[in-house]
Amino acid sequence: MTTASPAIADVTSAEFRHAVGHFATGVTVVTSVGADGEPVGTTANAVSSVSLDPPLVLVCFDRSSLTLAAIRGHGAFVVNVLAAAQQHLSANFARRGFAAAWDGVRHRPGLTGSPRLDDVLAALECTVEYRLPGGDHEIIVGRVREVGTAGDGAEPLLHWRGGYAALGGGACSRTMVATA
Ligand SMILES: Cc1cc2nc3c(=O)[nH]c(=O)nc-3n(C[C@H](O)[C@H](O)[C@H](O)COP(=O)(O)O)c2cc1C
Repeated sequence: MTTASPAIADVTSAEFRHAVGHFATGVTVVTSVGADGEPVGTTANAVSSVSLDPPLVLVCFDRSSLTLAAIRGHGAFVVNVLAAAQQHLSANFARRGFAAAWDGVRHRPGLTGSPRLDDVLAALECTVEYRLPGGDHEIIVGRVREVGTAGDGAEPLLHWRGGYAALGGGACSRTMVATA
């Protein structure tokens, strides 16, 4: 007698995106240095801490990301954690390979040469530890080499259900944005 395997349903990309959008996240700009020596960066919320010892963090990049290509070459990156007042930076760095995105954005090279943005809540300077497959994304696991925090009590920029949100329930924007 054979046992029928249970039917396993698949979800569509739209269903998955809608459901996972209920998981509120912070918003970061992940920066690195391109092959031409110029700064690059992309908005990313698929970010998580991985390990305390050693200190590891992961970022999931669309495989077509130009920032991902730069990180593969440079071998290092910075996770810049945005404050609520920096929503414009999130929109700015969500534009693919847009060099002019750096116009007027105050930053300085960090330990690894990757740009550290001014006035972010926290910066995690990383070197690439692992590169892992992740479907249509690539998972970059970084070893954290240096950290900085603002320590000024500024509130974080949040992303929830396809838009920006604020701590305490006040929606700072319901602008729908594309995410990974
Ligand atoms: C709030 C928000 C979160 C995002 N999170 C990610 C992410 O985690 N990974 C990713 O690959 N793209 C993410 N994106 C999309 C990229 O920022 C966007 O595709 C960008 O144009 C990629 O630029 P690049 O190709 O120059 O790296 C996000 C966009 C927004 C607005």
